[in-house]
Amino acid sequence: MAGLDHLLERNRRWAERVRIANADFFNNLSREQHPNYLWIGCSDARVPANEIVDLEPGELFVHRNIANVIVHSDMNGMSVLQYAIEVLGVQHVIVCGHYGCGGVQAAMGHAQLGLIDNWLRHIKDVYLAHGAELDAIADETQRLNRFCELNTLAQAANVARTPIVQNAWARGQSVQVHAWLYCLSDGLIRDLDVSLSGEAHLAAIHRMAAPTSGGRER
Ligand code: CO
Repeated sequence: MAGLDHLLERNRRWAERVRIANADFFNNLSREQHPNYLWIGCSDARVPANEIVDLEPGELFVHRNIANVIVHSDMNGMSVLQYAIEVLGVQHVIVCGHYGCGGVQAAMGHAQLGLIDNWLRHIKDVYLAHGAELDAIADETQRLNRFCELNTLAQAANVARTPIVQNAWARGQSVQVHAWLYCLSDGLIRDLDVSLSGEAHLAAIHRMAAPTSGGRER
């Protein structure tokens, strides 16, 4: 661990501080987790999930990737979503983008960046769907920030479209999908006031009937 001793030392001091404040903290937490929220955020180092909503370890189930993209063919994202909803029983899925997102900015540009271009393509699809609105914004920063909002709204919709969420609704499990935007310059979250909580929030083309019994191994 040459070169990283300072991090291990910080870890020891943190664990000690937590133990002093609550002697049973790690004992209790090591037995089980009961988070009520799934956080889907950007990997950006400036948007640390637990810290910005001031939650303790154990309170937030977290998935982060570049530009908080949710794609049905991404086994990682889908596995996190399935575990969070079907095993942990989270009631709220928060898709939290952030203004000034580098991934969204790259998707707005035309440079070829390598492997990541395949990931950013999903964000370009969001631009295509809102091209008229975005093209009409002359100021580049404002256009980027609106694109960040539209991307987050689109990814929240993608969460709701999955069979995982639709089957939860069909079972009567309460699951709400929210879209938030974090502002790097003041540390505040803006709620885009979206709460997808049932089939009525899906376009007809995305609605899927629950599988018939025996059609799905459980
Ligand atoms: Co970002």
